[in-house]
Formats: sequence, structure tokens, C-alpha cells
Amino acid sequence: MEEYQAAKEELKRTVDIVELISQFVQLKRGGQNHMGLCPFHSEKDPSFTVSQTKQMFHCFGCKKGGDVFAFWMEYHKVSFPEAMRDLAEKYNITLPQKQMTSLEKEKMTLKTRIFKINEAAATYFHHILTKTNDGKPGREYLAKRSIPKEVISEFRLGYAPEKWDGLIKFLKQKKLDMDTAEKAGLIIPNKKGDYYDRFRGRVIFPIDDLRQQIVGFGGRVLDDSLPKYLNTPETPVFHKGELLFGLHAALQAIRESGRVVIVEGYTDALALNMHEFKEVVATLGTALTDNHIRALKGYAKEAVVVFDPDSAGKTAAMKSLSAFLNEGLASKVMILPEGDDPDSFVNKHGLDGFVRLLRQSVPMFDFFLDMKLSQGGDQIEGKVRALEDILPILSQLKNEALRSYYIRHLAEKLNITESAVVIELKKWGTTPSYKSHVQGSREARSNSSVRNQDDQYFMNLLIHHPQIIDRLMNQDLKVILSDPMIKEIFDTMITIYHTEGEISPAGILEKLEKDPVRERFREAMMTPPIFSNDMVEQAVNGLESKVHKIKMAESSIRARQQGDLERANKILEQKRTRENQVL
Ligand code: UTP
Ligand code: MN
Repeated sequence: MEEYQAAKEELKRTVDIVELISQFVQLKRGGQNHMGLCPFHSEKDPSFTVSQTKQMFHCFGCKKGGDVFAFWMEYHKVSFPEAMRDLAEKYNITLPQKQMTSLEKEKMTLKTRIFKINEAAATYFHHILTKTNDGKPGREYLAKRSIPKEVISEFRLGYAPEKWDGLIKFLKQKKLDMDTAEKAGLIIPNKKGDYYDRFRGRVIFPIDDLRQQIVGFGGRVLDDSLPKYLNTPETPVFHKGELLFGLHAALQAIRESGRVVIVEGYTDALALNMHEFKEVVATLGTALTDNHIRALKGYAKEAVVVFDPDSAGKTAAMKSLSAFLNEGLASKVMILPEGDDPDSFVNKHGLDGFVRLLRQSVPMFDFFLDMKLSQGGDQIEGKVRALEDILPILSQLKNEALRSYYIRHLAEKLNITESAVVIELKKWGTTPSYKSHVQGSREARSNSSVRNQDDQYFMNLLIHHPQIIDRLMNQDLKVILSDPMIKEIFDTMITIYHTEGEISPAGILEKLEKDPVRERFREAMMTPPIFSNDMVEQAVNGLESKVHKIKMAESSIRARQQGDLERANKILEQKRTRENQVL
């Protein structure tokens, strides 16, 4: 265990939290910290904060935070040992072998077992497709769709042969258990208490996550039978509405161009890849969700949603507009000619044709606006109805310049005055999502103004000016603290000081047990210093004299209660003189 602890420490020294988190969240330097849009909750103003000096992150919005391990666990939804293993691998640090195997055995969660069995299955399907006679129908099918060898191997495409127990035999031979295979959705129990393969006679598209682990599969029939695609059912690691096919393969290209193109189908993503267009991901035929967009905004500055012009596709794409606005990711739409999908289009017109069309993509909001306006018709009733659909979305636009641009645009199109639009818009000042956002920040603001200023000063001094820590360790200081959480922090700090003789913010954080208290402390750690170095002395004096005042008042009251009026008055007198001195 000691070795394990040592490996953990080594990882902590090696991994830089800003560098690590930058791989998943776009961070900008802001003062002492780095800021970005939080990957853990919806927001369009950055409150996600990363500190290089403290090697810590904290979101002022949702309060999630911690060190590199905490980030990895939260972002990838994994346990601590898994985070250790991932980071050790990523940063080339050897974990103690023996420790890890026993630990792995013990902690090997169902998820880990599913990943392992999916990996085996992917190997099997790929082997069948590329190396065996059974794979011939699959090879012929992919050739017909002109998907080249390079794409087959990069995406590890496979083929599930026309057999009831092809995969089962393979898994048994590898001594992998059927129970996990069932939970992974690879095999299905039959009435006789046995199993059969889920995927049969289908071309297989493995779907991986950002850790490059296979979460599930899509399988396409070779003919026109239905269902066209069979996917892994919901499992502990496969959630259709959250996944993006090809995200890992596209990451670098997305980061470089700042743009991501979102298509609907596996083959659309592959066809574009085949034409060396890499910044593309595919939803698994589902609508775009907040989850998808939250993941993408960590890499892209702009998303282009490609869809076919049929009205169902249009409506589905439009539903995501709100989510894009809420998450603060700029969105555009690219419209394909009737009857084409990205796959067929790029195969007909080549990359040039695709890029030409891509350049013509329009902001999603413009598209939405024009669609609503044209649906409404020329009659005034229609225009009013269109306005009612547009205003709630328009009210979500944060950027003032953009908002006034659209107000003008809308006024012109509807042939009404801009001020009429503004008046109507005011009524919509609070659409559900907008409202919750505004309320959230207002709450946060009032919360902090309710927060006692002395509490804030005390915490800020403690964290940023360790040279005066001795003076803050004064038990009496507690009388000026009002927030029970801060009092608890104070007590913990005194205990550590007495038992260990020295104290550091990181040390205090480690000892705090309750989550809300830890959050409160982390928040204080991420708050920039309030006092410059030459103001610190004055600030501590201020706190101390407040303590003194309270103490004097208390003893004056005590004296009076004991009937010693003379002493009570004397104390009050002293208090007044001192106050005058301070002033
Ligand atoms: P499409 O029907 O547009 O298929 O479904 P496609 O991608 O163009 O496929 P090809 O070109 O005919 O091979 C888009 C996506 O919706 C999901 C799949 O993820 C597919 O890629 N889908 C579709 C299913 O999950 N099941 C289905 O039966 C059909
Ligand atoms: Mn297609």
C-alpha cells in the first residue's frame, strides 16, 4: 500500500492539472487562475476555475472540485483505482504491479469487466472481417460502399458472422464469463438457459469513449432487412443519448480547426474520414443532447450540424438550438441537397464539394428564424405566432451585439419597429432556461453578500498570507465568525495546528470531512487575494480589534450582571477610547 501511495504522490508531482484539464476543457488565463465553461453543468459564463499553483479545480457554479484524480473520476465517471490506472498509463508511471493486481481484482467493477469483454469482442469481429472466410460478406459490403482498408483498421470495423454462437465460442475460449457478456449486451439468454449472439450477419462499428475504451457496438445489415442498425442496448457504459461516434479519433482535428461537424450516421462520419475530413462526429441517430454539446464545447469553438432537408430532420436539429445557446457553443447548420446524406454527398462531390457547402453553412439561429418566419406566412397572425416561437430563443442570446443584430433583422422581416420587438422581448425576459440561469447567478450573488465579510476576510488571509497564520490561530477570533461552516474550518485548523505544528491550505482541505465544508473551503482557495501585501497588517488589526470590541462588550455585560456597575462602565469607557484610537 505504501508503494501505491508513493505512486499516487509521483502522479501528483508529474501531472499538471492545467495541462490535463486543457485536454478536455478550453481554458483561458484569468488573473491567477485559468477559467473555462464547466464540463459538469450547463453554463454560458465560465465559472469553472483551475489553479496551477494549487493544482486544484473548482466550479463556482456547481461546486464540483478537487485535484487531478477528482477531475478524472468525475469527467470519465470512474472509480479512484481506475483513475490511478488511467493516469499512470497516460503519464508513464509504473504502478506497483502486485498491489495493482490484487486491488484490481477487488475493485474490478462491472464497468471495467464490460470494457474488457467489449475489447475482446471488437478484436474478434475485426479478425473475422479482415482475416477469415466467414468475413467475406462483410468485406464485400464495405468494398461496395468504398470504405478503404485504412478506415477499416483505424476504426477497427468488424463483421459478425451469420452464426448463433460465433462470439460465444470465442469468449469461452478466452475464459471470459457469459454473465458479463450478457450485461455488455453482446449475448442474449435463450429459453433453454443458454445464450446466443446478439450481432449476426452484420458489419460492426465499435463505439469508443474518450479513454478509447469500447462502450458498445452498432451493427448494420448487409441488405434491406430491418432493423437497419442494431446497437448495444443500454448498459452501465452505453448510453445512446450521450455518445458521439468517432469523437476520440476527431479530437485533434477539432482542436486544431476549432470546429466540429456533427452528422447522424456511422457511415457519414466514416465517409468524411475517408476523404481526409477528420473533424467529424456522429450522434447515434438520436437528437443532440446537452450532454453531447457539453462534451464538444470542451474542444470546439463552433459546431456545424449537418442534416438532410426533410422536415423531421430539420425539426430535430432545431430542438438543439436551445441547448447550444445554453451551453455557449456557437452553432451553424449545413443543409444538404434533397435525398443526400453526408456519405452520399461526399462520395458524389468529393471533399471540395463538401467544403464548399460547409462554407455556406448559416448560424443556426438565422436558420431557425427564417424557418419560423416562412412557416408563419404573410398574415399578421402568422407573424405573431412566429414571433412567439422566436422570442424565447432570442432571449437566451447572451451576446448583446448579436441580440441587437437579430432584433433588427426580426423587425425588418416582420415589418415592425425594433422597439416593438424589444417590448415583446422584455415579456420573454425569463424563459425557463434563461430564468434558471439568471436566478442561479442572482442567488449566488446574494449568497455572497449575505456571507459575513469577516468570514471572507479571515479565510482569504488564511489562504493567501501564511506569514500571519500565527495570529489567525487565536481562539478568540472565532467570535467574529458567523458561518457555521467557517467555524468548522476554524476548529479543524486549530486542531491541525496543535497536533502537527504547521499548517497549509492543502493540509486543511485534506482534513475537512463534510462535502459542503470542503466545497466552501475550495471556493475560498480559488478566490484571489483581497489584500495586497502591504494591507495585510491593517486587515489583521481590523479583525483583532473587532474581536477585542466584542470581548469588552461581553465582559462589560458580565460585570453588570454581577452588579458591578462601576467596572462595567469602566470597561465601556476603555472600549470607547480604544475605538477612537483605532479611528
Ligand atoms: P440512417 O438511417 O440515416 O443511416 O441512420 P445511415 O447512417 O445513412 O446508414 P447507411 O448509410 O444506410 O448505412 C442514422 C443513424 O441512426 C442510427 C444509426 O446510428 C445510424 O448511423 N440508426 C438508424 C439506428 O440506430 N437504428 C436504425 O435502425 C437506423
Ligand atoms: Mn447513409
